[in-house]
Amino acid sequence: MIESGMPPSVESNLPPRKVRVDLGARSYDVLIGRELLSRLPEFVALHVIHGPYAVIYDVRVDGLAGKVEEALKNAFRSSVQAGEKSKSLEQAAFLLQQMAERRIPRSGTIVALGGGVIGDLAGFVAATYLRGVNFIQLPTTLLAMVDSSVGGKTGVNLPEGKNLVGAFHQPKLVVADLDALATLPAKEFAAGMAEVIKYGAIRDRALFERVARGVTPQDADLAEIVEKCVAIKARIVEGDEFETKGERALLNFGHTIGHAIEKATGYTRYLHGEAVALGMRAATWLSRREAGLSQEDARDLEVALLANQLPVVLDPAVDSQAILGALGNDKKVAADGGNRWVLLTQSGEAESGRTISPNLVAQAVEYLRVHPDDL
Ligand SMILES: NC(=O)c1ccc[n+]([C@@H]2O[C@H](COP(=O)([O-])OP(=O)(O)OC[C@H]3O[C@@H](n4cnc5c(N)ncnc54)[C@H](O)[C@@H]3O)[C@@H](O)[C@H]2O)c1
Ligand SMILES: [Zn+2]
Repeated sequence: MIESGMPPSVESNLPPRKVRVDLGARSYDVLIGRELLSRLPEFVALHVIHGPYAVIYDVRVDGLAGKVEEALKNAFRSSVQAGEKSKSLEQAAFLLQQMAERRIPRSGTIVALGGGVIGDLAGFVAATYLRGVNFIQLPTTLLAMVDSSVGGKTGVNLPEGKNLVGAFHQPKLVVADLDALATLPAKEFAAGMAEVIKYGAIRDRALFERVARGVTPQDADLAEIVEKCVAIKARIVEGDEFETKGERALLNFGHTIGHAIEKATGYTRYLHGEAVALGMRAATWLSRREAGLSQEDARDLEVALLANQLPVVLDPAVDSQAILGALGNDKKVAADGGNRWVLLTQSGEAESGRTISPNLVAQAVEYLRVHPDDL
């Protein structure tokens, strides 16, 4: 903690890294760095985002919520239980009522402080309360920093399925303070790394080669790594803000089989990023067969997963048929009934739109039974 009167640390003098998401009237900045939450007053003033601020936060980041409330004048806070269960209509209704009770005006701002669950939930509240109020994302998980806080997709789950209710509602500002990651469980950090590896694999060979050596929350170049991921997502979102052109499809690399694994295991056995890690390994095998990916590049993806403590072998208790069955219901199934696969042509380059025979898909799932070192 820096006491007032003490000289600010070197970090706090540095301007944060900034990625502009260019969406015309809905453009915004993503700021990335360390010691940023205490500088929020500076950032909201610069971006002309007014209070009152309703800070919706995950109970697990209670300490940070205190800091944010202290930093922002005229802020209220509402805690939300940790976990996917909180991404519900009931929770959204409760929060909407709180906004009304506190008379948050149209000019006020909802602030999400937490991971993707809080971002999606608070974003949905911001999209619907008074037909839409200002929204700020303060992501506290690696996944939220590189993925869910950027792009404007907000929403909640229904008992029938995930993310079935929602709205596009872009934030006015995203502040990713890497210091928030200090308390994040290692497993959650690794799950976020799966998305980081994905960005490198589909778009940026240099990023891929860097992250293949393994990344920790303390790494000096973490801000640069997050910045690169956010920039890749920003460019893709800019080209397809409302997901109508299929340009966002590349972001689904590893997600077709990943989603099927999550579904087949009732969303309990693997974190999303862990399932995506397995899905990327399977998609890499398919890329070797169908998209000309070299053996060396395929091996590098496995190395990257291993270096970041991600799973590469499927739990033997998970049934292949259950995964293949779940694939049939994948929401990314193309109109012609085939899966639109995203495959790598080389490290840093991907293509989408492939249809793959069910037989080959089954072989890719079986490939996940064997550890790369035992092949
Ligand atoms: N909107 C989008 O574009 C988009 C994209 C990807 C994922 N998502 C959504 O994001 C959600 C997953 O996000 P997530 O992985 O961040 O999950 P999460 O929000 O559940 O956070 C993961 C876990 O970490 C805890 N946590 C968060 N920050 C912490 C911190 N700094 N210290 C200690 N613990 C902390 C949480 O309590 C939770 O237990 C899913 O609901 C998914 O649908 C949305
Ligand atoms: Zn994902």
